Amino acid sequence: MTENYGWEIISDSLEASELIVDETLFHTANGYLGVRGNFEEGYPNAFDTIRGTYINGFYDISEVKHGEKLNGFIESKQKIINITDVQGIELFVDGDRFSLFEGEVLDYKRTLDMRSGVVSRQIVWKSPKGHMLEITICRMASFVSTDLFVIDYTVKSLNYEGEIVLVSTQIGEVSNYFNPNDPRVAGEFEQHLTVREVRREDHIDLIHSETNASKLRMTSAVKHSVSAQCQTESTSDNRSLTTKIKFQIKVGVSERLIKYCVFTDSIRYSDCSQSALCKMHEVTRMPIEKVYELQKDYMDAFWKHADVTVEGDEKLQQGIRFSIFQLLQSAGKDKYSNIAAKGLSGEGYEGHYFWDTEIYMLPFFLLTNPALAENLLSYRYEKLEAARENARILGHQKGALYPWRTISGSECSAYFPSGSAQYHINADIAYMFVQHYLVTKNTDFVVSKSAEVLFETARLWMDTGHYVGESFRIDAVTGPDEYTCVVNNNYYTNAMAKYNLKWAVKFYELVKEHGGSAFFTNSIGLDEKEVRDWQEAYQKMYLPYDEKLDINPQDDTFFSKAVWDFENTPKENYPLLLHYHPLYIYRYQVCKQADTVLAHFLLEDEQKLSTIQNSFEYYEKITTHDSSLSTCIFSIMAARLGNIRKAYDYFIHTTRLDLDNTHHNTKDGIHTANMGGTYMGMVYGFAGLRIKETGMYFNPVIPEEWKSYTFKISYEGNLMQVKICKEKCVFTLLSGTGCDIYVWHEKYHLEDELVKELK
Ligand code: BGC
Repeated sequence: MTENYGWEIISDSLEASELIVDETLFHTANGYLGVRGNFEEGYPNAFDTIRGTYINGFYDISEVKHGEKLNGFIESKQKIINITDVQGIELFVDGDRFSLFEGEVLDYKRTLDMRSGVVSRQIVWKSPKGHMLEITICRMASFVSTDLFVIDYTVKSLNYEGEIVLVSTQIGEVSNYFNPNDPRVAGEFEQHLTVREVRREDHIDLIHSETNASKLRMTSAVKHSVSAQCQTESTSDNRSLTTKIKFQIKVGVSERLIKYCVFTDSIRYSDCSQSALCKMHEVTRMPIEKVYELQKDYMDAFWKHADVTVEGDEKLQQGIRFSIFQLLQSAGKDKYSNIAAKGLSGEGYEGHYFWDTEIYMLPFFLLTNPALAENLLSYRYEKLEAARENARILGHQKGALYPWRTISGSECSAYFPSGSAQYHINADIAYMFVQHYLVTKNTDFVVSKSAEVLFETARLWMDTGHYVGESFRIDAVTGPDEYTCVVNNNYYTNAMAKYNLKWAVKFYELVKEHGGSAFFTNSIGLDEKEVRDWQEAYQKMYLPYDEKLDINPQDDTFFSKAVWDFENTPKENYPLLLHYHPLYIYRYQVCKQADTVLAHFLLEDEQKLSTIQNSFEYYEKITTHDSSLSTCIFSIMAARLGNIRKAYDYFIHTTRLDLDNTHHNTKDGIHTANMGGTYMGMVYGFAGLRIKETGMYFNPVIPEEWKSYTFKISYEGNLMQVKICKEKCVFTLLSGTGCDIYVWHEKYHLEDELVKELK
């Protein structure tokens, strides 16, 4: 095994079609800011590019126009915006401008090193006049000082003696990417940021801007540090700043420019310009080596808990680490932000947060970094009031309804059948609050946050559903499968709502035990009678079941629809959503993604194994996996049902989705939920982890191709390592006082090490 086994992503491509994808794959982010991997010097004009920098949770508002605006339709939406461009650095040698598309490229590669959290470009270039330079450009978004992004630019002369000129820019006039033909990105050109001030203070270049509609403010600050004796010349206009740096270089000598870039915004700071100046002073006080060292320490600590290793498959190992690294880069680390569907790598889905966070990404944080998980859950708690308002807009007198997609808390979905109608998001959020309790047993968090979220979401189910005789039913909602919309009794929704209601009752009892129920009587008018109503509703929740087939129908009418004609659908017509009118799709049995199969994963005790097995086989035949949230779930469930070969095939597809651009839209950003799905495929899929009220369960299996795999998880304050080899599985307690675990349904107390033969 080489030292770099699975730790690096390397590209040497200069193809236009691949560069725009590499912009995403090599973006640098830290949960607060994200910078796409654009070349400092740019590309030829004909190349398509999405040049972008984003702050998590920083948005503008744009108007939503409807042809026919019905009651309660949204009038505006938030969207993440492209902010000040600090990426620009041009290099001139003897009058020739450095470009990878001119002169001669003698050597080139770009590397993402996931151990150090740094992206670098290494180039050996011969200018048209024959001067040879070695150019190394490193980029880092600091995890320690999250406002900081650094470009570290080194030039070494191989045969040239003379002047080098570097021109560094900071540009305030920027706009977002748009494509009118793709519903997954913005449809029209809009300029969102207006520069309010451009100035220079203490050798720091500042641009202060304001969003046009949301009136949020942000500041970018840039400071240059040059190793050589140099002449600098600064110019500016009312939208940009340029710094020209001239120095002499000798053969064999390296000179270095460090461009420190700091970003602050008015969501987090009352005076963002002043804060940017302070931050800049703070970060430039340390030598750059220290900044790298801190980043490395952070990464070491992160990987110590988060790494998942696979022995025997380097490409897969790389894909797994890439997914885990991207989850870290994407996750908001304060209460103002969450995880966007594309992280901070692009503008797809307009920077919105979806159910993706709770069902796909949070499990990773919960098991490896509970504090960060709490942070992400706290964001939902903070948005509870907005969710109450959203519920009123949709006609509910009581309860809270989380929006399908949002940044600041209000609904941003303009197409309700596959948007706002996905009420299951309420139960998904509740599910994760419960999982958090089951993993951490943190009752303080339940009393202070989780309980209220569960109570308000439970109320919403009571207001949405109704009794038909002795069963509680939920009409006119959409489940996770967006190819089947606005249906009655979606199995997933009903099963998850049942869990939501059940745990609202349990949390009420827990809160009562801790003397907190009076608080909720006062704050939200909760009484025992209401809690008993929740109990009755979950006990009587209707879950569609077809006795003849021993399957859970996706909803009341799903089985009476015609099956989609897969045989005569050409390959190029996928994803279907880009080729057929939605109504046409809704008429058929065809699933965009796991729906009932997902419910069977999350709530396996609701059904007997034969129903789960039959359902898997049935839905597998009619699922297109047009959504990237699908194959990971099929992998997990194939493993659960003992089909390791199939689990492995789905898993391979999941793990390398962005690295191999299999969905053909990685240019718009990474598929962050799928990355969470990769982690889940290992831990919940192959290792068979389930966290239930009765404990933590493992049912491990191992694909033929692997020698072993290993990961670490936190549970009830303990840290354990799980290693699955061909013949045995080993559970090792690394810290904590020990806990009970179930391996193939046998209960053990883990004190130091537990070794079991693999079945
Ligand atoms: C999926 C949704 C998902 C969204 C954002 C859609 O294609 O169908 O389930 O929430 O993408 O990732």
